[in-house]
Amino acid sequence: MEKKNIDWSNIGFGYVKTDKRFVSNFKNGAWDGGVLTEDDTITISECAGVLQYAQTVFEGLKAYTTEDGRIVTFRPDLNASRFADSARRLEMPVYPEDKFVEAVLNTVKANEAYVPPYGTGATLYVRPYMFGSSPVIGVKPAEEYQFRVFTTPVGPYFKGGAKPITIRVSDFDRAAPHGTGHIKAGLNYAMSLHAIVTAHAEGFDENMYLDPQTRTKVEETGGANFLFVTKDGKVVTPKSNSILPSITRRSLMTVAKDYLGLEVEEREVLFDEVKDFAECGLCGTAAVISPVGKIVNKDQEIVFPSGMEEMGPITKKLYETLTGIQMGRIEAPEGWIVEV
Ligand code: PLP
Ligand code: COI
Repeated sequence: MEKKNIDWSNIGFGYVKTDKRFVSNFKNGAWDGGVLTEDDTITISECAGVLQYAQTVFEGLKAYTTEDGRIVTFRPDLNASRFADSARRLEMPVYPEDKFVEAVLNTVKANEAYVPPYGTGATLYVRPYMFGSSPVIGVKPAEEYQFRVFTTPVGPYFKGGAKPITIRVSDFDRAAPHGTGHIKAGLNYAMSLHAIVTAHAEGFDENMYLDPQTRTKVEETGGANFLFVTKDGKVVTPKSNSILPSITRRSLMTVAKDYLGLEVEEREVLFDEVKDFAECGLCGTAAVISPVGKIVNKDQEIVFPSGMEEMGPITKKLYETLTGIQMGRIEAPEGWIVEV
């Protein structure tokens, strides 16, 4: 398979149109079989549910070229089941989980020429999504839906790759208690746009959101969960019903325990504790593990002992083990790696 002529090592996190995408429609209460198509455009009613009331959910995962040249995906079954949870919460039909995985694998295969070669630091990002396509004007779910999967080659989510970033505590909330913070719905990201634009304008890379009810507990960022490391080497990650259950975080907890022999705590994390942690990182499909060097909250500045130049030592071990598993250098737990 001849690869496309792309400067793989220098791409950022952006959209590049690839050759094929998967499309399936839900009509009269059933999904059709779906097709791979070259058409990257969509024509829908001006009154489609997605356009009026934001009825849309999505997923994000990656395809990797392993050291021995295979193309693999990482735990796509977990994306399938989270996608089903997201759909149910927005009163959308569930796309069958086995068909979801099949659609992901087939779309990656059809765009093999865009899967970045091993060792370039780039990967193929896969974006499955679904939206209400039929007209609704009273507030209610659409009757027809479209499920699609496209791919785009990507580099690091944060400019500078593995360099620690600076974040701030946001004045805005991301998710209400008992709201939609735990699902991957477009509306959660629309909510975060003003906060991220103002954060960037003020020189910060991301926002830390606190729990909206008490504003004392750490939730997550706009696109990743938090991992902290205590001074005595324990891995701590916030537990909350209003954050997205990150597949990267769940995997890192296993890596920390079973591969690195570290103690792991998933629990409520008070913002007041953060100043006492030794390391901080953001974890997610796009972020992988991005080290945080500094957190600003109004007049308070927390600088982690790991500093602004290097990843902390435990963050680095977690990063190397996880990416080692994803790229086939380290043996994966049963079922984590699914070959295309
Ligand atoms: N939190 C939010 C808000 C996200 O958008 C993402 C990205 O998917 C994550 C966390 C990380 O989740 P995952 O590791 O499953 O990609
Ligand atoms: C992902 O990590 O897949 C996401 O969806 C995060 C997004 C902000 C790019």
